[in-house]
Amino acid sequence: MSRTVIVTGAASGIGLACVELLLAQGDRVCAVDLNPVPTATLDASACTERMIVRAIDVSDPEACAAAVAACVEKFGKVDALIHMAAVHSTHTWREIDAAHMNQVLQINVTGAFNMSQATALAMEKTGGGAICLAMSGSIAVSGLGGEGRGGIAYISSKAAIIGVTRGLARSLAPLNIRVNAVSPGSTRTAMTADYSEAAVRHAGAKTLAGRMGEASEIASVALFLISDGAAYVQGEIVNVNGGGHLGL
Ligand SMILES: NC(=O)c1ccc[n+]([C@@H]2O[C@H](COP(=O)([O-])OP(=O)(O)OC[C@H]3O[C@@H](n4cnc5c(N)ncnc54)[C@H](O)[C@@H]3O)[C@@H](O)[C@H]2O)c1
Repeated sequence: MSRTVIVTGAASGIGLACVELLLAQGDRVCAVDLNPVPTATLDASACTERMIVRAIDVSDPEACAAAVAACVEKFGKVDALIHMAAVHSTHTWREIDAAHMNQVLQINVTGAFNMSQATALAMEKTGGGAICLAMSGSIAVSGLGGEGRGGIAYISSKAAIIGVTRGLARSLAPLNIRVNAVSPGSTRTAMTADYSEAAVRHAGAKTLAGRMGEASEIASVALFLISDGAAYVQGEIVNVNGGGHLGL
């Protein structure tokens, strides 16, 4: 049965790959991002008939509520949220000031909460749903940044997603809303586009797969987590990292 899914971070990388997969399987999509969603790789008639786009900043709670309201107005309800919107930060501990730290936390952590809260309020009215957030494999493995990868502001924000996922999973379970997160390893998207060749090699060598991940390989697991096939998966942070969590 087709569903209505809100996807944030829909303009790029894993979020865009989620939109592609959802439209291809006949679902309806509310695509949310600060930036315009590129439609070149998407089915044109599906975009017209089964997708709306909302350009918002997820750190703005009123904008999040308005995006969810637009989705409900267009499609009648929200079955699931896949929240991928986030910013990267490679600043070192010496470079970071409080303003930068707060900005990254506001987008990556408060933004995840804002979208989850707005969506849960809509799902509550229609009997439930599912939410998939995004953690980060490097945090799950070691908390390490460096080599062009996430700095302390990004790492802190992604570590907080563990708490958001588990706290919301517990809070929303009585409303029949499941909450989980994917935890991607290093994945080839705009977020990692500035990795040096050495960083790409290093990231791949740390996995059993021997390479970085592709956006579609993370998206397919996010889609599973919001599906009925994952009905008994709650409060989980699911590694999708080519075996990187084994810590080679
Ligand atoms: N790519 C990786 O290696 C990797 C690894 C671990 C975790 N992740 C996580 O996966 C998720 C998706 O990452 P990606 O690699 O696809 O990144 P990406 O940079 O390709 O896409 C992120 C999207 O979020 C949007 N965005 C940023 N700030 C926003 C805001 N304030 N409001 C609305 N939209 C905003 C951007 O415009 C962009 O389209 C992120 O949460 C990221 O932290 C990625």
